[in-house]
Amino acid sequence: MCGIVGAIGLGNCSPMLLDSLKRLEYRGYDSSGIVTSDAGEFELRRSVGKIKNLEETVNEKPLSGSIGLGHTRWATHGGVSERNAHPHIAADRVAIVHNGIIENYESIKAKLHAKGYNILSDTDSEVIAHLFVEAFEAGLTPSEATRRVTSEIDGAYAFAAISKDFPNLIIAARNSSPLAIGLGDTGSFIGSDAIALAPVTRRVIYLKDLDYAIVRADAVQVFRPDGSETKREPVIVSASLALINKGGYRHFMEKEIYEQPDSIANTIRAFSGVNGKIALGVSSRTLGNINGIVMLAAGTSYFASLVARYWIERIAKIPVSCELASEFHYREPVTSGINTALAISQSGESLDTLKAINFAAERNLSTIALVNVLDSSIARDSDFVLETKAGPEIGVASTKAFTAQLTVLITLAVAIAEAKNELHELQVKKTLGQIKLLPGLVAKTLDAFESIKPVAGELKSVQSVLFLGRGPLFPIALEGALKLKELSYIHAEGFAAGEMKHGPIALIEEKLPVIGLLANDNLIGKVISNLKEANSRGGTIILIADEKVANSIDFASYVITVPASDPVLAPILFSVPVQILAYLTALDKGTDVDQPRNLAKSVTVE
Ligand code: AGP
Repeated sequence: MCGIVGAIGLGNCSPMLLDSLKRLEYRGYDSSGIVTSDAGEFELRRSVGKIKNLEETVNEKPLSGSIGLGHTRWATHGGVSERNAHPHIAADRVAIVHNGIIENYESIKAKLHAKGYNILSDTDSEVIAHLFVEAFEAGLTPSEATRRVTSEIDGAYAFAAISKDFPNLIIAARNSSPLAIGLGDTGSFIGSDAIALAPVTRRVIYLKDLDYAIVRADAVQVFRPDGSETKREPVIVSASLALINKGGYRHFMEKEIYEQPDSIANTIRAFSGVNGKIALGVSSRTLGNINGIVMLAAGTSYFASLVARYWIERIAKIPVSCELASEFHYREPVTSGINTALAISQSGESLDTLKAINFAAERNLSTIALVNVLDSSIARDSDFVLETKAGPEIGVASTKAFTAQLTVLITLAVAIAEAKNELHELQVKKTLGQIKLLPGLVAKTLDAFESIKPVAGELKSVQSVLFLGRGPLFPIALEGALKLKELSYIHAEGFAAGEMKHGPIALIEEKLPVIGLLANDNLIGKVISNLKEANSRGGTIILIADEKVANSIDFASYVITVPASDPVLAPILFSVPVQILAYLTALDKGTDVDQPRNLAKSVTVE
């Protein structure tokens, strides 16, 4: 996934473009570039690596144009090189930046070659610029040209183009990849999200799929594929987007770990109605009619769905299936007997999850989106939206959004049970009372930073780590392994502790770190046996345990405690120490915590 930005009417626009690219860097950081134009002449600067490299290039050779485009890249087609960095310029006439994948670019490339067009890069994106050159050579206007170009390309795209033929406008278009148009006092802007535009404007138009727009400094026209003009109402985005900063922490991830008591409290508040009743914004009738849920997600959000399955089946007594979004719509699933799909996505833009929820909708399932970005593609395409109130999450590794997702999901379980009369009023009150304890309990788990430091010091030099958990802590074992992998690049695997004896126990060797998650629940005896099996074969046991049962074993090399709680809350509380462990290990290893290698915050390609 990449980040795109554009500006017109600002005067010298390159400082704004650079600042916006820094705000979009979480979307991809393999390479970046800026093109500006004044009275038609293009000036192009591109660099491999982080935005800071581009900034140095621009400082050495400043840009002065009053219209410009910027791009930060997560490579899909074409390796990481300056030649493949955006913006791409065709025939010194049209410059473009693109986020997405043009699925039919090879056939387009062949046709353009045959017509004598000189394609310089290995990317799919560059063909868009040449298609515009061809359209302008045919005498088409900007909107006619855009209508033709967008009809010729297949796949996900959010692109912006500027042209010497029409030096006073930016062309913008989207399909499946997000694109916002900012309306400023003296200029207009385009960006992959509102965060990029927040410093210059909070008035934003979100294009819908297949929209395209002609953006002038003082006017924006939006069109539909048939060429008809349409209206998209501007919205005012929250001021917090303008306040994206680390707040004195070393990294966004550290800040976001520490924000969890607040983000959970805000989420609880958002779903609390009058006299403490649950208010999800989904009617009791709708909830009562749910006869089964298929959950669709990727990565950490998928692990949230695995936790939710335990809660919803146990509390609401309806069947739940959890599907990797990238697999779901390609395996021709049978959805009879299930009438609801729930997509879980922090960004609301993961294309795997977007495609899966649209597939479910095509099969007449009612669709619910659990997202952290209200105006996101997955939210827009769903019948109902549940919004986590975690605030913008910038660290590529998801933390506060994950625990906010879990907070909504346990609340949803209770709400469905209540709607189906599966829970007595007193039980509802008891569970809601437990949920309200979360902010305070999560705040206490943050004290574990000190006790986890020596464990991180031990892990930084190992080759492999195992995480074991049972019941609702099995998904947290998976999440802990993912956090450690994606932040410190150490191989880690999460297992259901009971599964070890069916093969994975062969991995256990002297000093192999085994992180055991121990809640104060009905599985404690089994988990202890599984940890004993690992320890007796030489594994180094690192115990993360509810403080009430932290002394249950005497063979752990390290013990990290989690505040005592009702087992129903354990998945949320145990998420924090595994986040901290991954963070501190990455810190010790010196990896890039907020922007780990090869990753992007939201993956808007398949
Ligand atoms: C989480 O730490 C990872 N960055 C990744 O697995 C992420 O959860 C996944 O890409 C899904 O993203 P989404 O929640 O925005 O859909």
